[in-house]
Amino acid sequence: LNAQNKIVINADLGKYKIDKNIYGHFSEHLGRCIYDGFYVGDTNKIIPNTRGIRNDIVKALRKMKVPVLRWPGGCFADTYHWKDGIGPRSERPTIVNTWWGGVTEDNSFGTHEFMDLCEQLGAEPYISGNVGSGTVREMAEWVQYTNFDGRSPMSDLRKKNGREKPWNVKYWGIGNETWGCGGHMRPEYYADIYRAFATYLPGNSNVKLFRIASGAAGDDYNWTEVLLKNIPLNLIEGIGVHHYAVIDWNAKGSATDFTEEQYFKTMQQALRMEKIVKGHINIMDKYDPQNRVALAVDEWGGWYDVEPGTNPGFLYQQNTMRDALLAGATLNIFNNYCRRVKMANLAQTVNVLQAVVLTKEEKIILTPTYHVMEMYNVHHDATMLPVDVTSEKYTVDGKSLDAISCSASKDENGKIHISLVNIDINKKHNIVIDLRGTEVSKCTGRILTSEKVQDHNTFENPEKIKPAAFNGFKLNGNKLRIELPATSVVVLELE
Ligand code: AHR
Repeated sequence: LNAQNKIVINADLGKYKIDKNIYGHFSEHLGRCIYDGFYVGDTNKIIPNTRGIRNDIVKALRKMKVPVLRWPGGCFADTYHWKDGIGPRSERPTIVNTWWGGVTEDNSFGTHEFMDLCEQLGAEPYISGNVGSGTVREMAEWVQYTNFDGRSPMSDLRKKNGREKPWNVKYWGIGNETWGCGGHMRPEYYADIYRAFATYLPGNSNVKLFRIASGAAGDDYNWTEVLLKNIPLNLIEGIGVHHYAVIDWNAKGSATDFTEEQYFKTMQQALRMEKIVKGHINIMDKYDPQNRVALAVDEWGGWYDVEPGTNPGFLYQQNTMRDALLAGATLNIFNNYCRRVKMANLAQTVNVLQAVVLTKEEKIILTPTYHVMEMYNVHHDATMLPVDVTSEKYTVDGKSLDAISCSASKDENGKIHISLVNIDINKKHNIVIDLRGTEVSKCTGRILTSEKVQDHNTFENPEKIKPAAFNGFKLNGNKLRIELPATSVVVLELE
């Protein structure tokens, strides 16, 4: 093989853990994510469920592994009053979901149902609290309700509602997009508000809280700078950032019917994630040189036009090989910056934006993004191995991106995993990997690929795209030669 693509992996230089929470998810009360998605109600006799939560989705997600799940929003979070969603369902008030389609929310899925979902999935809950239209007292009481063991007004109420032991929720988001739908605040104002919330939450909890500040929109580095300048480090464990791969907010384009130029623009936007993450890390390194505060990319993914004929406020979109390549390349970025990126949450788990599961009545399909998340779960909590990538270019209309993206890790059993993405949809790429600081004798692999980047799974053909065994490599001493097909995501395992 005559390879222009070279990767050096330093197997003995691993220093940082890839926190499994990088593989987190996000589920909002939006469209058909919760209702008619995860949750079909416990009186549903057609779709098998456990206390209203679909068994088929739980089974699929347990296989993929969901380490952490963010809820109830998004923009919805800053309109949500948690006490509306507890107690007997018939007595819960209805509200209007003002951000998403103006639909009536009957609050049948609330705190107990969310905790049940997390327990069924084996996921840690990450609650995004209401700052925009809520109060410090309201959020502090929510913490007391979920996390206080002794006698207190809220823990007594929890027990009355059927849950004796606290759930001990560790991750708390203090507002969402407070620069936008969460209150249109200036960073100076939000920093002060944050300080007040962060002060009063911990006293209501048995467990140490991980408080996450509402982070910047993409490359708004000033947001992070002002927050960290004004928030003492003993009040903050994490800071968020949101970045979606959108071609143009006024012309997002179809999720399935797109040109190569549109595909290229999506990948350009997706790969900006590296610059964005680096920019925020530089500021964090200045204010927090001891690397205590985590960067949480608590919303990311591809955002396109809704499927024709569906409610524009429901953000229901299909998911193609474009999304698989986007997910694979983005997760490689998070892995490589795991020193600071300790959580990320793909938007959103079921039926919304870059979903891993789509539902239609009693049927579900697993999207190409699901398969990438499942293939990459070998990286969870493994030690990141630094990679040095020299890549050929993928060029469209005179503009270029690196064709190859890569990350690597070593797990607790000493197995090395390498994830590779070829974003070039026209050409296979030959790669030579130089494995330094280790001796390996066996390699196996899995691949996700399809002929066209627009290919996707449908309810009629649900398994068009699924992982297959990959044999396109030769291992010779510490040199691994790979023929990486166009439009593909590959995960290799070396022993
Ligand atoms: O994920 C959809 C929306 O995108 C979220 O509600 C909001 O936080 C973001 O703008």
